[in-house]
Amino acid sequence: MSLNSLSARYAAVRQHTLKLAAPLSAEDQCVQSMPDTSPTKWHLAHTSWFFENVVLLPHLPGYQVFDEAFAYLFNSYYEALGPRHPRPHRGLLTRPALSQVLAFREHVNAAMQQLLLNESKLSGEALALIELGLNHEQQHQELLLTDALHLLSCNPLLPAYDAHFKHASASHADLQWLSFDEGLRTLGRAVDETGFAFDNESPAHQRFVQSFQIANRLVNCGEYLAFIQDGGYDNADLWLSEGRAHVLQNDWQCPLYWLAPNDPRAPSDQWQVFGLNGVQALDPQAPVANLSFYEASAFAQWAGARLPTEFEWEVASHHADMHDMHAQVWQWTRSAYEPYPGFVPASGAVREYNGKFMVGQQVLRGSSLATSPQHSRDTYRNFFPAHVRWQFSGLRLAKD
Ligand SMILES: [Fe+2]
Repeated sequence: MSLNSLSARYAAVRQHTLKLAAPLSAEDQCVQSMPDTSPTKWHLAHTSWFFENVVLLPHLPGYQVFDEAFAYLFNSYYEALGPRHPRPHRGLLTRPALSQVLAFREHVNAAMQQLLLNESKLSGEALALIELGLNHEQQHQELLLTDALHLLSCNPLLPAYDAHFKHASASHADLQWLSFDEGLRTLGRAVDETGFAFDNESPAHQRFVQSFQIANRLVNCGEYLAFIQDGGYDNADLWLSEGRAHVLQNDWQCPLYWLAPNDPRAPSDQWQVFGLNGVQALDPQAPVANLSFYEASAFAQWAGARLPTEFEWEVASHHADMHDMHAQVWQWTRSAYEPYPGFVPASGAVREYNGKFMVGQQVLRGSSLATSPQHSRDTYRNFFPAHVRWQFSGLRLAKD
């Protein structure tokens, strides 16, 4: 079996999910800390559900489902694939046990390997769905980490997910403003470009982009601390109205996982940050993370700048002097998540994958320390509602 074969890649991606779950106990893996997040056990099951329902049932003749009840339990949001267990109640599934979910994974893996034995005979449609299933699993690998971090942050002991987990470390480059001339730009991804991409990245299209400047690096924790110490959270002039309401309702005073000096959970007279590697002293050079769009926008106001549009970000991504575009933090943009001109959703059940979420969300560009490296594409469009803070979301500044 070649290392590049689809079969080998399938095995590697599926194995990596288990590796990410390994530091978590069975108790850790069952709990849901808020409706936005999902238990690890649910991620393990749902990614297998995806292969069972989207790939195996339509494409492997004679496939026997592992358990009829799982279609209801582990469907996320696919109306075309039937009713589903309510999302906020995923953490109530103490049954099936973790061991049964792992057995479900094995069952699906065995059937997938049987299907992949005849890779050369698979239709283009089946191959595309397997590729989508692998990219879907990698998206859930990131969610598994961000959801686990949120869960662990709710525990007053603040346990580390893995004391040796890599943490974000932005470049120490001096802040420079890179200037771009106005012009007609080709943005997005050509439909016929080889290699995988999600449907929301296409089609390539032309767009006039005004001249702009953009920061060569991310906003760091030291700069964000200066915003806090300057009363940024209390200065209504800096905030969008909805953001101001969130600050007041939720008593936001700092990014989601920051611990103010003298926080009783981890006594210190300094600011600290809770991450997958546990509680660490705040690193002023590290990129600020776990911000809502509202906080990113208020910081940019305070700094006399603004957030880039997703189109400016993509134009700038080709510049050699841009630092930390990927693998540190997702970067909030000022762009609403809209279909590109000529957007056509994927067909079949997976037409629900992206298109139906194109309202009420902001685009984030780049990728985070938790993102699968294969997802570091300059056309990749992540999206979340403006108040969301549990992703590794930060910012870089732009100006007119
Ligand atoms: Fe999913």
